[in-house]
Amino acid sequence: MRQLQLMAFGEPSDVIQLNTLPEPALGPEEVLVSMEAAPLNPSDFLLVRGVYAVRPPLPFSLGAEGVGRVKALGSKVDTALRGKRVVIVPNYEQGTWSDKVVVPARNIVPVADDTDPAQLAMIGINPATAYLLLHRYVSLMPGDWIGQTAANSAMGQYIIALARLAGVKTLNVVRRPEAAEQVRQFGGDRVVLQGDNLRHDIDEALGGKKLSLVLDFLGGSPAGDLARSLKPGGSIAVYAFQHGWPELSPEFLFNNLNLHGFWLGNWLRNAPRIEIQELYQKLADLVADGSLSAVVENVYPLDQFKEAIDRSLKSNRNGKVLLKLGAD
Ligand SMILES: NC(=O)c1ccc[n+]([C@@H]2O[C@H](COP(=O)([O-])OP(=O)(O)OC[C@H]3O[C@@H](n4cnc5c(N)ncnc54)[C@H](OP(=O)(O)O)[C@@H]3O)[C@@H](O)[C@H]2O)c1
Repeated sequence: MRQLQLMAFGEPSDVIQLNTLPEPALGPEEVLVSMEAAPLNPSDFLLVRGVYAVRPPLPFSLGAEGVGRVKALGSKVDTALRGKRVVIVPNYEQGTWSDKVVVPARNIVPVADDTDPAQLAMIGINPATAYLLLHRYVSLMPGDWIGQTAANSAMGQYIIALARLAGVKTLNVVRRPEAAEQVRQFGGDRVVLQGDNLRHDIDEALGGKKLSLVLDFLGGSPAGDLARSLKPGGSIAVYAFQHGWPELSPEFLFNNLNLHGFWLGNWLRNAPRIEIQELYQKLADLVADGSLSAVVENVYPLDQFKEAIDRSLKSNRNGKVLLKLGAD
């Protein structure tokens, strides 16, 4: 079977190799999944560069999430799973950028057969993170407002969709006018552009209302400007720090604001298995009924992985880049 493997930590275009490996033997509690699709995520490239929370021994099979079909079962696995389409729960135990993977049965969640596999392939990391960020820090009520940076990202799209389902309004910051238009089409309630006028534009967009929650992965002044508009006791949840931490003003103290860090890996490691299964089933149902999706820019076959990586690392993309894998 063919697998994209990391041969050394470094620049993604230099250190990822497509290798052909023998199919591993199936343990009693494992399944063989013939992969259909898997996304390339920013966290994959942090891992490749050796600056992620996970630094595995090499060579390492890449790809943390994806979707495929169960082709073979270990002796102790429920036979009802044979042939089922399944989402791989994100982890760094097996690489999903592969034609086939052997996975412990506890790391798969059966999903609908008639749903777009590209959308299902992406539910493991971003939608789960968006859902947890929206639910764990403040108790949001319909009509409440949240703010977010880089709102045209896949994360931003899922946050908007899940907020809308809960009746929560979104104030969205982007850095490009074209991205602002895209975010309006996603259903963002207000969209403002990064830049010198951001603080003023946030105030104008909110018209006197206050935010309950700010979700940020950029850091710096955009997140700081949003944080100034939080209600007393409101929360800032940081889920990556592209440019460091949010630039916080004295309001952080005077308004008793809360700053939280979130990494999905910790939740996946600590949450009960049933809670994890239930969340992925709920997200897969939302994908199936069309309420949850992210724009896909392009899907590349495995042997065009270099193009997929190059495109994925570019700014100003119109959506996610995925690998189409060799399901048979
Ligand atoms: N903590 C966790 O557990 C967790 C879970 C999921 C994701 N994440 C993190 O969330 C982030 C987003 O992931 P994603 O898959 O949604 O990414 P994505 O779809 O690839 O989007 C990347 C976004 O970043 C924006 N961006 C990049 N550099 C920027 C800059 N200098 N200033 C302003 N905007 C900038 C891009 O804007 P343009 O379109 O204008 O280029 C785009 O909106 C990643 O850092 C990822 O690692 C963390």
